[in-house]
Amino acid sequence: MTDEFPLEPGLLYLNHAGVAPWPRRAVAAVTAFAAENGRTGAEGYPRWLAAERRLRERLARLIGTTPAAVALAKNTSEALSIIAQGVPWQAGDNVVGIAQEFPSNRIVWESLADRGVTWRPLDLATATHPEDDLLALCDQRTRLVAVSSVQYARGLRLDLEELGARCRERGIWLCVDAIQSLGAVPFDVRRCGAQFVVADGHKWLLGPEGVALLYVDPALRDELVLTQFGWHMVAARGDYERRDWVPAADATRFECGSPNLLGIHGLEASLGLLEEVGIAEVAARIEERATRLIAQVDRLGFELLSPRAAERRAGIVTFRVPGVPSADLYRDLMAQRLICAHRGGGIRLSPHFHTPLAMLDRAMDLIAATAARPLAGHA
Ligand SMILES: Cc1ncc(COP(=O)(O)O)c(C=O)c1O
Repeated sequence: MTDEFPLEPGLLYLNHAGVAPWPRRAVAAVTAFAAENGRTGAEGYPRWLAAERRLRERLARLIGTTPAAVALAKNTSEALSIIAQGVPWQAGDNVVGIAQEFPSNRIVWESLADRGVTWRPLDLATATHPEDDLLALCDQRTRLVAVSSVQYARGLRLDLEELGARCRERGIWLCVDAIQSLGAVPFDVRRCGAQFVVADGHKWLLGPEGVALLYVDPALRDELVLTQFGWHMVAARGDYERRDWVPAADATRFECGSPNLLGIHGLEASLGLLEEVGIAEVAARIEERATRLIAQVDRLGFELLSPRAAERRAGIVTFRVPGVPSADLYRDLMAQRLICAHRGGGIRLSPHFHTPLAMLDRAMDLIAATAARPLAGHA
C-alpha cells in the first residue's frame, strides 16, 4: 500500500487527524480532471456527474445509508451550520455538547444564542462516563446532542450506539461530527441512529479539502428549514425557464449551487482505495499502529493524554513529555519534518492504515532525542 503513498523519504507523516496526504490515485484523478478542463472544457460534464454519483454512493455505503440521503457540502463547518440554522428551534431550547470540542462544533451552537438557544457543554476533565454525563446535562428542553464521534485533540471515542439509543429514548436528536472517525473505524448510521452526520474528506478519508458529507435523516428532511438557495437545490434542476420551484425531494436540497467537481474527483478516488482495503482492515491496521505508539510512549516515560482502552480511541495518540513544553517540542519536530500537531496540551500523532511501522519507530526515536536536548523555542 505504500505504493499509493509515495511520500518523500525524509518525511515522517503522522497527521491524518489534521490534513492527510492523498493516495496516488487521487492525485491522478485530480490531475486528469485539470488536464481535461484545459483541453476540452466542460464537454465531458455528464461524465463528471457520474463521478459525483459514484462519490455519493461510496459515502452512502460508508455510513450505511442510501445515496439519496447524502448531500455534499463545502466542509464540516458548513454542514454543521446548515443543521444548526435549519433546526426549527424555539426560544428556551438547548443543545448539549462537549467543552473541549473542535471550535466549529461549539461556535455553530453558540451562534444560536440570539434565538434563545443555549449550548450546554460537558467538561471532559470532570467526566467519568461521557455518555452518562452528556445525558445528565439534558433536560426537557434539550433538542439536540451535538458531539464529535472522536475528539480531535486527545482522541476520545464516544460510544455512539449507546448515546444514540439513549437520545432516542428521550426524543432528543443526535448530531455527529464524524470527521475524526469516518475512514478510520467502522460507522453505521442505522446502528447509532444519528439524525445528522457530517465529515469533510481531508482527514481519514484521504481526500482533498472542500468536499464534505452531510447526512440528514430522511424522516426529518422536511422539518429542517432551508437556509441556502439556488438553481441546484430545486426539484426541477436544469429547467431554467421555470419560475415556480420546490426543494428537491432528496438531500440535494441542501446543495445550493455548482458542485466542487475537482474535489469530488479526488475524494471519489480516495474512497475507492478505502473500499478496496475495507474499513475493517483499515481499522485493524490503525489500531495496531496506535497500540505501537502507546507502547513507545510508555517505554519512553512520556505521559499519555489519550484514552488507553482501544474501544475509547481511534487513530489519535496524544502525549506529553514531562518537563518539556509541548509547543516548543512541536515546533522542533515540524522543523525536522515530523508532521504532527500540537493539540490538547500535547503532541498529537495520527497514523493511518498505510503508515509504515518503521515510520512510527523513527518518529518516536526522533521525539525522544529532540526532547532530550535544549529546544529551539525554549531559550
Ligand atoms: C472534530 C472536527 N470537526 C471539524 C473539523 C474541520 O472542519 P472543516 O471541515 O469545516 O474545516 C476538524 C478539523 O480539524 C475537526 O477535528
